[in-house]
Amino acid sequence: MYKLITHNRHKYTEMKKIIPELEMVDMEYPELQADTLEEVVDFAINYLRDKIDGNFIIDDSGLFIEALNGFPGVYSAYVHKTIGNRGILKLMDGVENRRAYFKTVIGLNIDGYAYKLIGICHGNIAPRERGNNGFGYDPIFIPMGFEKTFAELSIEEKNRISHRGKAMRKLEAFIVKFR
Ligand code: IMP
Repeated sequence: MYKLITHNRHKYTEMKKIIPELEMVDMEYPELQADTLEEVVDFAINYLRDKIDGNFIIDDSGLFIEALNGFPGVYSAYVHKTIGNRGILKLMDGVENRRAYFKTVIGLNIDGYAYKLIGICHGNIAPRERGNNGFGYDPIFIPMGFEKTFAELSIEEKNRISHRGKAMRKLEAFIVKFR
């Protein structure tokens, strides 16, 4: 049994499809203002270590837009809360280079040791919002090789190619050793 510490039910739904023995613990933890997702995850694991009983995982993700030098990146949650998808589209108005990637860093705390599993999904920022599935930046992200946005894909389709799907499959392969 693995506890996923998150406020985000969408993440839980996606992740449980890959690792069914996941249980959601709705709990807030401080997010360090750092330069990388990896630092945010390290800090959070250390913070949670003596507060959570047993093995647990956390997920920190971000959208990195090439033409904006990687913005919003580690600020993705705050930027989504403030300017949202429309704000990003405005920043990208008239910008030809629409390349971007999503990155997930999963932090795993197991038997007292901490590990990180990483997944990246490359794609492009869509010209406008499309689709009703998923969450966050999904309506404005078109994964490489697709015409649809993440928000136009099913959870299964998104999981097959997404940053989180990739990190979760690495996690799945990794935890086999601990069973
Ligand atoms: P965090 O990992 O919860 O800190 O997420 C940072 C921001 O990125 C939040 O605004 C999320 O909604 C957004 N986000 C995280 N993962 C995804 C995803 O898979 N698709 C779209 N947006 C995401």
